[in-house]
Amino acid sequence: MISTQLPESLLSTLPGRYYTDPAIFALEQATIFEDMWFCAVRGSDIPDAGSFRTVQVGTESLIISRSRRGEVRAFFNVCRHRGAKICTEESGAVKRAFQCPYHAWTYDLDGKLIAAPNLTKMPDIDRVAYGLRRVHVREWLGYVWVSLADEPPSFEATVEQEIVDRLGEVENLDHYDLASLSVGKRIVYDVAANWKLIVENFMECYHCATIHPELTEVLPEFADGLAAQVFVNHGAEFGAGVQGFTVDGSAGVDTIPTIDPEQDRRYYAVTIKPQVFVNMVPDHIIFHRMYPMAPDRTVVECDWLFLPSVVASGRDVSKSVELFHRVNRQDFDACERTQPAMSSRMYADGGVLVPSEHHIAGFHEWLLAKIDPR
Ligand code: FES
Ligand code: FE
Repeated sequence: MISTQLPESLLSTLPGRYYTDPAIFALEQATIFEDMWFCAVRGSDIPDAGSFRTVQVGTESLIISRSRRGEVRAFFNVCRHRGAKICTEESGAVKRAFQCPYHAWTYDLDGKLIAAPNLTKMPDIDRVAYGLRRVHVREWLGYVWVSLADEPPSFEATVEQEIVDRLGEVENLDHYDLASLSVGKRIVYDVAANWKLIVENFMECYHCATIHPELTEVLPEFADGLAAQVFVNHGAEFGAGVQGFTVDGSAGVDTIPTIDPEQDRRYYAVTIKPQVFVNMVPDHIIFHRMYPMAPDRTVVECDWLFLPSVVASGRDVSKSVELFHRVNRQDFDACERTQPAMSSRMYADGGVLVPSEHHIAGFHEWLLAKIDPR
């Protein structure tokens, strides 16, 4: 890095190889995605006993499912016989059991081995010990969070602390009652960029005036380029003539009734490291989950959550969805334009952060401490 030669206004970024090097990506998978709490699926994606989704967390494929009693379960998607992938679909439902498509070892919804060809002739096999290996799960905000660590980090000291750092207290997020909201729209983006470029982009608003014309119309203070996330519990106020957080500033849908009066007509955003962004406006939540797939590829699943009554009524939410869908496309296009330059000789020492981006250096310090804990 070249920080010693920089003028005071500038801080250096990470060198380009941090966004391209498979060895660094492998370290991130091991020490971040497979060790921290990872937000995997929306609870309503697995509505019933036996409903499942498969997700990629770090290098591992997981099955997220529900037991007969409705409890969320997460398993490594690896057969205990000779390792075949059990569920090959992204989502689906089984009646009572998962059956491996190779030699038909069969596991109940708690992961216990319940059947296999000739199993009765092998009475010494412990059916729990040879069951599907479970992963730690936690339900919060209506999402299923998993940790592949033997001893997961404290959920309160990691995930919830991010909310405290940003909003002052978890209650300020609780007001939106995320667990009770319904998914009105989901869009999945396959982004040809490293996950850190997406985090860094989300953390700053220096780009807002350039690439987000619709967003800066609704939130005029974003045109100044100051990231709202720098100030504890600051929400960006809607412009004077703006009626709702919609693509044209027209009225949105019903306000979430439990929000604090101070949260009305304001937009708040939180980054929950390593892979979640939460955006709050009075009548909906935009919730991003990233799945880092390769150094230069990140799948982003984005949910728009509204009051259940709004979704059930079939109300048109397209103007609300369109605003952040455009913001997403604008942001992800910018990240995709940046990714190729990460392997340029011009970027071998990295780039620079201006003062309104200086807080991104904190993200870099966090990352370096994770992947190189010496
Ligand atoms: Fe699954 Fe053989 S690998 S039953
Ligand atoms: Fe942006």
